[in-house]
Amino acid sequence: MKISVKVPATAANLGPGFDCLGVALPIFNTITIEETVLPGTGIEINAIKDETNIEDVILDHTPMDENSLIYKAVELLYNSIGQSPSELKITVQTQIPITRGLGSSASVIVGGLLAANELLGHPADEQALLSLAAELEGHPDNTTPAITGGMVISSQEDDGSVVYSKLDWPSEWNITVCVPDFELSTDISRSVLPKDVPLEDAVFNLKRFGMFVQAVNTRDINLMKRALQDKLHQPYRMKLVPGLERIIDNLKHEEDVFGCVLSGSGPTIIVISLKSAVEKIKSTVKETWKDMNVKVNIMTLPVEQDGAQVLSND
Ligand code: HSE
Repeated sequence: MKISVKVPATAANLGPGFDCLGVALPIFNTITIEETVLPGTGIEINAIKDETNIEDVILDHTPMDENSLIYKAVELLYNSIGQSPSELKITVQTQIPITRGLGSSASVIVGGLLAANELLGHPADEQALLSLAAELEGHPDNTTPAITGGMVISSQEDDGSVVYSKLDWPSEWNITVCVPDFELSTDISRSVLPKDVPLEDAVFNLKRFGMFVQAVNTRDINLMKRALQDKLHQPYRMKLVPGLERIIDNLKHEEDVFGCVLSGSGPTIIVISLKSAVEKIKSTVKETWKDMNVKVNIMTLPVEQDGAQVLSND
C-alpha cells in the first residue's frame, strides 16, 4: 500500500500570537509512505525537491534515518496503537523551505502522522492527530493550521488535547511573505527567549492579541495596525534576523501597510497590507536586504483554507 499526503506551509505568531496563532499558506510538502520490503532496518527515507521549489532548499542536514522528524511522527502514530513501523519507504517532496519559519517541521510531522493513520486504517481522529502533532512539535501554532487549514488560534491544554478556533481573515488583506537566503533554526531562535517576561510586556501582548482578533472580526484596519506588535519574542530575536528592525522602520509610514512581523521563529518576515502597498513592500524589503547582502524571495499569498489532505491511496 502507498499513501501520499499534501501538507501546507504555515506561518506562526503573526505578531502578538506567540505560540498560539498560525495560518496555513499555499506552499506544500508532499509526503509518500509505501509499505515495501527493504534490506537493513526496513526503513528508507528520501527527500527530494519539488520542481516548483521556491528556492534551493538545503536538504543535507535533514536526518534521513530513524532520527528524522518524519520517522518520529510515523512511529508515534504506530506506537499510539501499540505497534511499531517496519518495511516503510518514506519520500518527502519539498516545496517548503527548511529553517525559514514557514512550518517545514510541522509539515513533515503532520504528513507523517496523517499518512501513517491512513495506512493503519484511521485509528486516530482529528483531535488525536492535533494532540500528537503538537506534542512532537512542542507548540500547536504551526501543526494546527497544517491540519485544519485557515488562520487558527490554538492551545494545547494540560490534558494534551488541542482546542482551536478559526478566524475569518479578510481576503483583501494581503499577506506578503519575504523569505531571506539565510537559515535560522527554531531551536536557536527559541534559545534566546527568556524564561520569564516583565508583567507589562505580557499585558502589552494580551491587549494586542485581543485587538488582532477583534480587527479580523470587524475588518478594522486601524485596529490591525495597532495589533501587529509583540514584546514576547520579536525583541529578543531581532539580533538573529539582521534587517528586521530596518524593514519594520522603512515600512512604518506606508499608509496601506498594517505591519511587519516575524513568521514563526524567523527569519522570514511577513508584511500585512492592502494590495495597493504590495509593490512598495517588495521593493523596500529587497533594497533593505540587498544593502546587507541578503537575497530574498517574496510571495504575496492567500490564506490556504484546506489543511493536510490525502492525495492518493493505492
Ligand atoms: N511559536 C513558535 C516560535 C513557532 O516562535 O518559536 C516556531 O515555529
